[in-house]
Amino acid sequence: MCGIVGYIGGKEVYPILIDGLKRLEYRGYDSSGVAVFCANVPHIYKVKGKISDLERFIGDNPKKGTLGIGHTRWATHGEPNDINAHPHISMKGKFVIVHNGIIENYATLKKKLVNRGYTFKSETDTEVLANLIEYIYEFGKVSATDAVRFALNKVQGAYGIAVICTDECDKLIVARNSSPLVIGVGEKEFYVGSDATPFVQYTNNVIYLDNENMAVLTRNGKVDIKTIKNDVIKPEIQTVDLNFDEIEKGGYSHFMLKEIYEQPKSISDTIRGRVDLTHNSIVLGGLMPVMSKIMNARRIIIVGCGTSWHAGIMGEYLFEEYSRIPVEVEYASEFRYRDPVINSDDVVIAISQSGETADTLAAVKLAKEKGATVIGICNVVGSSISRETHAGVYTHAGPEIGVASTKAFTAQVMVLAMMALSIGKAKYNIAPEMYMSLLNELITVPQKIEEFLEKPDQVKKIAELYKNSPNFIYLGRGCYYPIALEGALKLKEISYIHATGYPAAEMKHGPIALIDNKMPVVVIAANRRGYDKIVNNVQEVKARKGIIIAIVREGDETISKMADHVIEVPKFTTAIGALITIIPLQLLSYYIAVMRGCNVDQPRNLAKSVTVE
Ligand code: F6R
Repeated sequence: MCGIVGYIGGKEVYPILIDGLKRLEYRGYDSSGVAVFCANVPHIYKVKGKISDLERFIGDNPKKGTLGIGHTRWATHGEPNDINAHPHISMKGKFVIVHNGIIENYATLKKKLVNRGYTFKSETDTEVLANLIEYIYEFGKVSATDAVRFALNKVQGAYGIAVICTDECDKLIVARNSSPLVIGVGEKEFYVGSDATPFVQYTNNVIYLDNENMAVLTRNGKVDIKTIKNDVIKPEIQTVDLNFDEIEKGGYSHFMLKEIYEQPKSISDTIRGRVDLTHNSIVLGGLMPVMSKIMNARRIIIVGCGTSWHAGIMGEYLFEEYSRIPVEVEYASEFRYRDPVINSDDVVIAISQSGETADTLAAVKLAKEKGATVIGICNVVGSSISRETHAGVYTHAGPEIGVASTKAFTAQVMVLAMMALSIGKAKYNIAPEMYMSLLNELITVPQKIEEFLEKPDQVKKIAELYKNSPNFIYLGRGCYYPIALEGALKLKEISYIHATGYPAAEMKHGPIALIDNKMPVVVIAANRRGYDKIVNNVQEVKARKGIIIAIVREGDETISKMADHVIEVPKFTTAIGALITIIPLQLLSYYIAVMRGCNVDQPRNLAKSVTVE
């Protein structure tokens, strides 16, 4: 969703802002803008559309300066247009601001400001905040920092902001509440970002701002952090482990393709240092403080959204099979708006690539309030969910830039598999030989995915044949059901083809009505257990002349003969190896989307980090 960049220091600011915004494009946006301060005067450029449109609009001679802020906007209040784009300037021109999040009481605040003579150019909640700060600054005769602080005490909602006062151009003021904001610390200079990607080429030293905290960054290299209640906070500088190459396409035509091909490595990174083959053990250091809670959990509730929710359903199969703990999987957005029955012996696992998804974050807070032990499975280090939870495991998949999640999903499932196995072993629920074969399967997943990725042509051919199909159905049984859901989600989000995922046996209760000789039905038919049942489901589709695209294990005989098209994946024997079957589905969506001329990495209307409810 929206992205913020900012800089104060000695360097030319415009290229830092533009390059930073390009690095934030992956979050999803519909307009963008920058404010460059030249001799203490703000020059604001903003347009609807892409950063390339903004660059074209600005031309070859942007203003020069060493202080500025920039923004990519994903519209919430008011349509995407030049006026609603950020930065916004307050009515009398004293404050320039960029903002992520939503000010929930903006309408009340706006009414009060209108009564005091304020007028508004845009429909945004952000302009309300800019004018509120200015009103407090002028009326209260306080410093710019205090004006921002007092204003933030009056707003309800989520914000990550960067603010510059035209009277105090030696300062960049930033603040956050439930919307991420990271400060990059250089030599007498500071960078600001919604995450570290805009500035990681300049510095790895970062300060993660906490909720309801604000920081004043000054040109002489001084940083002051306070809560919005005015309590002083000691800045804690950390090193972010982010490599510049990881956020480049590295020769691939799209980030999504790069990330699909990165999976052998990203999964190896997820398990590295955690699976100890000398002692046949799995050690998840981040869970140590809560291990006894997990072992004695009455129930595990997994919450997440989208792809992370699908990983949660895979987790349900793995936990129930190997750990024998009852599991419920909930959409975070539904969970938080019910009054769920949660007890202190429940363990809630929140799964989130970004660690910033508003609904998942709210579910975490609710579960904590109700006394559960809350564990996070996040990819982004230092993200809000990883900081809100009692304990957690990072997926270490590396930055995921493509909006459609691929390597984060496989990493999440691997973490869940490691958890399920280690708990199952500790509870004596898995026989030693079974445990060994599961562990062996787990460590060979990267190599099998690599093998599969060497032969993408089998998938490409099918993509070519069905790229114009208006609908797809995806079917799977058992742990292939979440794979079917995830395959369908990938296709619809990047190719805009309608696709639905279903448990294969449920098909006859409704979706079977859709099947005719034009309907491609992707069946993930790699089951060992229940193979005959999936054969039946394939027959049901064939009887209605549906087109079967079957994902099978190498050497499969029965379904391979029945299917119209077959994609073989390397042999595996357990539910953990089942994860491999998502790879052909990721590739199928990718190729179809490319063939249809879609913007694969930034699909329409989608955002990478969904920080609104
Ligand atoms: C799908 C996708 C989304 C996210 C969902 C949750 O490809 O990317 O469905 O999975 O928005 O995001 P996180 O995992 O960041 O909480």
